[in-house]
Amino acid sequence: MIKKILFALFVAFIMASCSSKDITITSPDENVKVAFALNESKPVYSVKYKGKDVVLNSSMGFVLKDKAPLTGNFKITQTKTSKYDNTWEQVWGEKQFIRNHYNELQIDLQEVDGDQRKMSVFFRAFDNGVAFRYEIPEQESLEKFVIMDEVTEFTMAGDHIAWWIKAYQSDRYEYLFTESTISEMDTVHTPLTMETTDGLYVSLHEANLIDYASYAVISKPDNKLVTGLVPWSDGTKVKTGAPLKTPWRTIQIAENPGDLITNYMVLNLNEPNKLEDLSYIKPSKYMGIWWGMHIGKYTFWESPDLGATTENAKMYIDFASEQGVPLLLIEGWNKGWTPQWYMNRMHKFSFTESVDAFDLEEVVEYGKERGVNLIGYHETGSNLISYLDQVDDGFALYRDLGIHDIKIGQVGSKLNMKEWHHGQFGVNYYRTILKKAAENKLAVNFHEPIKDTGERRTYPNMMTREGGRGMEYDAWSDGNPPSHLATIPFTRLLAGPMDFTPGIFDIMIKYREGRRVHTTLAKQLAAYVVVLSPTQMMAGLPENYEGHPALKFLLDVPVDWFDTKVLNAEIGEFITIVRKDKKSDDWYLGSVTNEEARDFTVDLSFLDEGKKYKAEIYADGEDCDLETNPTALDISEKVVDTETQLNIKLAAGGGQAIRFTPVQ
Ligand code: NOJ
Ligand code: CA
Repeated sequence: MIKKILFALFVAFIMASCSSKDITITSPDENVKVAFALNESKPVYSVKYKGKDVVLNSSMGFVLKDKAPLTGNFKITQTKTSKYDNTWEQVWGEKQFIRNHYNELQIDLQEVDGDQRKMSVFFRAFDNGVAFRYEIPEQESLEKFVIMDEVTEFTMAGDHIAWWIKAYQSDRYEYLFTESTISEMDTVHTPLTMETTDGLYVSLHEANLIDYASYAVISKPDNKLVTGLVPWSDGTKVKTGAPLKTPWRTIQIAENPGDLITNYMVLNLNEPNKLEDLSYIKPSKYMGIWWGMHIGKYTFWESPDLGATTENAKMYIDFASEQGVPLLLIEGWNKGWTPQWYMNRMHKFSFTESVDAFDLEEVVEYGKERGVNLIGYHETGSNLISYLDQVDDGFALYRDLGIHDIKIGQVGSKLNMKEWHHGQFGVNYYRTILKKAAENKLAVNFHEPIKDTGERRTYPNMMTREGGRGMEYDAWSDGNPPSHLATIPFTRLLAGPMDFTPGIFDIMIKYREGRRVHTTLAKQLAAYVVVLSPTQMMAGLPENYEGHPALKFLLDVPVDWFDTKVLNAEIGEFITIVRKDKKSDDWYLGSVTNEEARDFTVDLSFLDEGKKYKAEIYADGEDCDLETNPTALDISEKVVDTETQLNIKLAAGGGQAIRFTPVQ
């Protein structure tokens, strides 16, 4: 199935000059056009989509420590173009076969005066966006150096609407999105999604972030967005040397918001899979001794209410085994938890020693006999000095017990109370742990992670991560408003899978007075389709699942897909996604809305032609009401085919989930 066409390499030599004419490249379908030029010897680029300006002339280059900046004084020594078209297979994900199709332009620059340092810029024009990266080749006058700033700008063509979260906050990426014009925007994280003044949708992000600082977007006057590299504690940004390849700066472009979701540019810009042994990487659902801690039923720390007891673990294993759920997460199993664990500075956990009430070996054995494997858990508290000291032993313990999944948390405002999670230090830390996990045959779920820039393509043991406001916020804070789940598909989730931890059936949270999940029950089910995650939690308590008719959907819904399509979408308002199971001919639909009720018709032409399907529909009940009756659920069946126009009604704050199975 893998088709590979790689051809046409064409090299042009261009005479040295201070200002140059535009050098352009277009996407294979010619809709996207990138132009590069030297403007009084300074590199600038611009982007158009179907003739509309997307990015106006914008600066490029670097400010270096104790060295002249690499921002001007350039001539072009050589340009090259090439074409690439290749379809590759994902180990797991939202689409099994992904086409990587672009035209590339390489521009080699050299300083006219002084040290005559060299720098190249690579542009890739895809049908749905543009990416570029810098390369600084090996050269005598530039060996080791420190980047103080990257001056890369995205000068937007208008004062667009954007959905953003502010960078440099203590809870990392765990905030609600704000909608405003870019001129009113703070310094923000990527992916940064915008609706342009002329009706396009654009998302800025980055791909293949390795040994470099991530960037936050700084909003400057005149719609200028600048890459603000996240600093080290000493104020420098990237400690590096030549040869250097920077991460790709990505500009995804769409005519409607749903097309941002099915844009695979970021994955395409990462290296192919490097892991030989994929046998332990198993997308699946999991349960956990977890929500109970967040709602106050159990404690993480040793107390009469400790969640991680051998007895409780066996109860969860029995339930998971009966339902066929293959994985169980148990938090608080190890020594070191205290009620103040998250407030303590440089808190120390053990990663090998169990609490007295929990017999790790016995629980692992009990699970194995019943087809339920444990997910290991390491909460570092961001004390990486202690963690890196113990991680080899911690991983070895899991490896020896035959555990192949691990959740690793980095709660804390700064790593080691010193460095931002998203600076170069953090980027390197997460990559080191990911590789070490692969060596120990562990598939990873990072909480409090670095943002996703497509690592899962190269290291498919990088399963899922938090990196956003998940369901836990509903357990102990004012929670996520209904609009949150209608916003993150277009923002946080453009980066990649999220461990959102859906599946709460006790929406009014009987164990925690005054807290609730701001959802209907049907919306909890829809979240499994809307939010991509190859390991997807069934976060609710067994006592609330036992005998519930909606449990069937949670057990049925897959986590690994052949294909994904967006049927309708408006950022922050609503979204309907359909995904086809990788292992069967079933399709699944998830539709969610914000605070507004919806009534729309969707066309089922995505189904296979000529087949009839049984649709099992989980809809908000007639009397469903977010405030007074959020669990009213209407389960029904219908026979449908490609011709069917399906009416979908969502209560305010509600959703709908459907399984389509071919009828024999
Ligand atoms: C925050 C994580 O997001 C959550 O899933 C975990 O239970 C707690 N930290 C404790 O580690
Ligand atoms: Ca968290």
